[in-house]
Amino acid sequence: MKTVIVNGGPRKEWNTAQLLQSAKRGAEAAGSEIEYVELYDLSYSGCRSCLACKRKGVSNPCRCFFMDELSPVIEKVHQADRLIIGSPIYFGEPTGQLRCFLERVLFPTLSYNSFSSIFTGKIDVDVFLTMGETRESYDRIYKEKMEAYFAPFRSFNGTVSIHPVCDTAQVKDYSEYEMTGIAGTRKLALHETEFPTMLRQAFEIGQRF
Ligand SMILES: Cc1cc2nc3c(=O)[nH]c(=O)nc-3n(C[C@H](O)[C@H](O)[C@H](O)COP(=O)(O)O)c2cc1C
Repeated sequence: MKTVIVNGGPRKEWNTAQLLQSAKRGAEAAGSEIEYVELYDLSYSGCRSCLACKRKGVSNPCRCFFMDELSPVIEKVHQADRLIIGSPIYFGEPTGQLRCFLERVLFPTLSYNSFSSIFTGKIDVDVFLTMGETRESYDRIYKEKMEAYFAPFRSFNGTVSIHPVCDTAQVKDYSEYEMTGIAGTRKLALHETEFPTMLRQAFEIGQRF
């Protein structure tokens, strides 16, 4: 069993990363082989529309032929049984780096003949989305949009599950920042009381096959 874990956020020790690390511990406990990827450490772009993957007679059409630092990651994802993604929400969307990743891993799996997936494997996908908004706002503003955003991962022939983690604390001490519009005290209290539960859930999700 191979699990690839992808941090689509820039911070390596904050909410998104902590959830992914917890999921990693869960997957390890279940005996999975793990590859943990920090997208912000890599130099890469989104799909360059070279269309090499759509050329007639190409031996492995699911391969992305554009070479950069994401190339080995794409190969590992395509060979995995499980993909666990994390991203903060920035301006109502997952990060730009995650978007570029999505384009590169998914475009080669899409047939322009049938507009269906030509991917022959099966990868179950779990997505942790962290955000400042409340769960109520997520359900009202983001839920439908995020389900549509991650629907292309169905190309991998497995399940696609989104796990929103809302109302996150963005800093450890709000008094040091110009952030009076944010209810810092409440967020830090939630970080103490609710976030550990989310970490436990992430562990269980990582553990599940
Ligand atoms: C550039 C930027 C834009 C953001 N935009 C949103 C947003 O549109 N909606 C939201 O709920 N939170 C937004 N946030 C808050 C982050 O999504 C939230 O703090 C998240 O938990 C950060 O993840 P991290 O702690 O792993 O870095 C934004 C944060 C930054 C830095």
